[in-house]
Amino acid sequence: MKQNNIFTYTVIFSIFLLIGTIAAFSQEDIENVHDSAFKKLTRPAVAFFHDIHNDKAAIEECNVCHHMFEGKKRVEDDDSIGMECSECHYKEPVSSIPDLIRAYHLQCSGCHLKQKAGPVLCGECHRRE
Ligand code: HEC
Ligand code: HEC
Ligand code: HEC
Ligand code: HEC
Repeated sequence: MKQNNIFTYTVIFSIFLLIGTIAAFSQEDIENVHDSAFKKLTRPAVAFFHDIHNDKAAIEECNVCHHMFEGKKRVEDDDSIGMECSECHYKEPVSSIPDLIRAYHLQCSGCHLKQKAGPVLCGECHRRE
């Protein structure tokens, strides 16, 4: 009986631990964009509730944002999930690859402008809490 209880508790504890671990690595928890290339932000952090945003905006494909290129050619059936934008976009532009800040602004505000939905003013994205 006692042995059984210990076993049950161990199993339950392990399940909680596993769920916790998965949650910690999930994009559900993302509330801000914070690329590690920006060591110190000069503007307030950018509000971005990853999954809620993408549901509301009805974006079907992850690679609309997490895109993958082969040279200058976009690979439609591949993505760069798990990579930061700064792994390919740097402080300065490299030929036709926009610099990091421009890459973010072009992608985020670019779509908002095109769809006439979503913020385009600095303070609407860089929100003071
Ligand atoms: C509107 C653009 C956009 C779309 C669409 C999008 N993402 Fe993201 N995703 C981002 C941004 C921006 C980040 C945060 C990057 C940062 O802070 O460095 C991110 C982060 C992530 C991360 C976390 C990486 C980490 O280091 O924590 C994962 C995982 C992820 N996205 C997966 C997905 C998946 C899966 C989909 C499709 C279901 C998707 N994304 C769709 C923009 C997007
Ligand atoms: C695997 C590398 C890679 C990653 C990761 C990546 N990009 Fe790019 N991106 C490129 C390349 C290469 C180009 C330029 C293609 C060309 O030469 O025209 C580009 C072009 C762009 C452009 C301009 C053309 C277009 O498609 O709109 C924007 C905006 C952009 N990237 C934003 C982002 C953002 C924001 C992220 C992160 C969510 C990101 N990129 C992640 C490689 C990458
Ligand atoms: C492919 C199109 C697309 C891209 C790319 C995109 N957005 Fe949006 N975004 C939308 C749409 C559409 C809405 C309006 C959704 C609604 O509320 O109906 C929106 C709304 C928002 C809002 C207001 C809703 C809220 O959560 O308060 C914020 C903030 C936002 N976007 C930030 C970003 C950031 C930051 C990025 C880049 C990392 C980004 N978006 C990239 C389409 C896009
Ligand atoms: C649609 C959302 C959006 C709008 C509008 C926007 N930004 Fe950004 N901006 C971003 C994102 C996303 C990043 C990347 C933030 C990160 O990784 O920490 C960024 C990064 C930056 C950075 C580099 C990081 C820092 O804090 O030093 C600066 C500077 C900046 N933006 C200034 C501006 C200015 C000025 C405006 C208005 C002209 C503006 N942004 C409008 C989304 C936006």
